[in-house]
Amino acid sequence: MGKIILTGDRPTGRLHIGHYVGSLKRRVDLQNAGQYEKMFVFIADAQALTDNIDNPEKVRQNVIEVALDYLACGLDPTKATIFIQSQIPELCELSFYFMDLVTVSRLQRNPTVKTEIQMRNFETSIPVGFFTYPISQAADITAFRATTVPVGEDQEPMIEQAREIVRRFNHIYGDTLVEPEILLPDNAACLRLPGTDGKAKMSKSLGNCIYLSEEADEIQKKVMSMFTDPDHLRVQDPGKIEGNTVFTYLDAFCRPEHFERYLPDYPDLNELKAHYQRGGLGDVKVKRFLNAIMQETLEPIRNRRKEFEKDIPAIYDMLKQGCDVARAAAADTLSDVRKAMKINYFDDADLIAEQVKKFAAEK
Ligand code: TRP
Repeated sequence: MGKIILTGDRPTGRLHIGHYVGSLKRRVDLQNAGQYEKMFVFIADAQALTDNIDNPEKVRQNVIEVALDYLACGLDPTKATIFIQSQIPELCELSFYFMDLVTVSRLQRNPTVKTEIQMRNFETSIPVGFFTYPISQAADITAFRATTVPVGEDQEPMIEQAREIVRRFNHIYGDTLVEPEILLPDNAACLRLPGTDGKAKMSKSLGNCIYLSEEADEIQKKVMSMFTDPDHLRVQDPGKIEGNTVFTYLDAFCRPEHFERYLPDYPDLNELKAHYQRGGLGDVKVKRFLNAIMQETLEPIRNRRKEFEKDIPAIYDMLKQGCDVARAAAADTLSDVRKAMKINYFDDADLIAEQVKKFAAEK
């Protein structure tokens, strides 16, 4: 059996370059390499609602934005099933069963959920659905028998939780579900791309994102005002690379051919870094180089997005077809799950025959 790749994003805003290097680019590469049996990519609207329950319009508007970002990056609906989470009721059913396999204290230990609770000031009023979203995420993954989940580092605890649930389920009910594996970016800078202000995470609420659909002048503005080394005041001063956002972005985006095209004085990134550390290399020169790379990377994505924006009904059609395919796949797994859990009363002829015998013997 080949790989089944699955991953998704919450529709709470347009996708940004953190999503791109963290997972999107990997998905497109996997898709184009074709070494898989099935690939599912979905828009996690139900999960987005767990902390946006009073703002359904925001989630609704962003479903199409995320779909457009997917297509713009090169996800191809003829190769990958693209669908919307809420349209697959089997996921709710599976989550409901999984809830019995996880303790409250186990959920409380999830580091990603812990930080998210703090970020949202939820400490005293955590919605149950938000608290339990790692369980529903395990259902998202296992309902499609995913073997491989390409996500960012922050999703590691979710995949671990899913693996635990699968092991527990299979132990109790017999081998039924597939234990998924996480696929992290292989480049450290891509694991967690910082915001343009140097803060640990790119996030819409912090206003430190570069969006995939960003216009050229906006990209330039954001790159040129990016956080660098605050102690690098004069060009001749030695500069620091660690924690210097411009260099982190170069680590994530720069390829050898970019030097040939935009900065032929330097053979590679190591030489550029060495010069910066020695002193004598100004921030503006490095930022201009990064800007050229970002422009080259994002222009084709932005242009493709504009093409797709011309036919919005076709995008909804594509999503609807994806939902139909996804639903059939999830229903198939759920039928195995119900059988394993012995709740398949009406399609089990043996059960009825057994009961007939049992009650006949009791007479
Ligand atoms: N939690 C993920 C995020 O915030 C989105 C998501 C939901 C997901 N279900 C998933 C990712 C299943 C991978 C697999 O980005």
